Amino acid sequence: MTNTLLEHSDHPDHPDRLDDRDAGSTVGPDRPFTVTRRAVLATGAAAAATAPLLQMEFASAQTGSPLPSPSQGAIALRTTVNGEAVTVFLDTRTSLLDVLRETLNLTGTKKGCDHGQCGACTVHVDGRRVASCLTLAAKAEGRSVTTIEGLSSGDALHPMQQAFIDHDALQCGFCTPGQIMGAVACVNEGHATSPESIRESMSGNLCRCGAYVTIVTAISDAARRMGEA
Ligand code: FES
Ligand code: FES
Repeated sequence: MTNTLLEHSDHPDHPDRLDDRDAGSTVGPDRPFTVTRRAVLATGAAAAATAPLLQMEFASAQTGSPLPSPSQGAIALRTTVNGEAVTVFLDTRTSLLDVLRETLNLTGTKKGCDHGQCGACTVHVDGRRVASCLTLAAKAEGRSVTTIEGLSSGDALHPMQQAFIDHDALQCGFCTPGQIMGAVACVNEGHATSPESIRESMSGNLCRCGAYVTIVTAISDAARRMGEA
């Protein structure tokens, strides 16, 4: 990893970050999974059916910790996730990533480093990409959160998801949800104007499989489809 890989708006030190660097603890990568590439890219298909789960009772996303109660300092978080109004009760220290994965069962967003360095946990908050592992869930109060599950429209993939399929822009797929969320932001921010600009904008999203060439190609293609290039 070079410094260049971290020098963009998702870098932990970037002034525009919504993240909180001290949230969470180190947890290893997800278990391996075997699914089709389309399923990887459209993880919202199954997860969207779990919308009723979004009305959760008291829960803590801190793995292994006891469930908080109002008397123990739990707060109510009212936010919108993938267009659904959500109310959850949580410990104030809970990261947005843990709420998404552990409380709302939206496991498309991956936990890689849990330290803001890999981009696997990238989601959008009010349209801006953030590293959800470094973002306190409480900061999503009154905001709109979009995860990979909320990107497609029913069976219709987002142009970025389709471009990743068309250009074979993944190998194991672990980094792919974060790559796609970062890529959509890259296009929307007007950075998909050249391969160099795309690489700079996407430098916070790491791929251990080294699929960078096809990822850049997919983003260029999707930008054309989205009319933003
Ligand atoms: S898991 Fe959040 S940046 Fe790596
Ligand atoms: S496709 Fe395997 S880490 Fe990116």
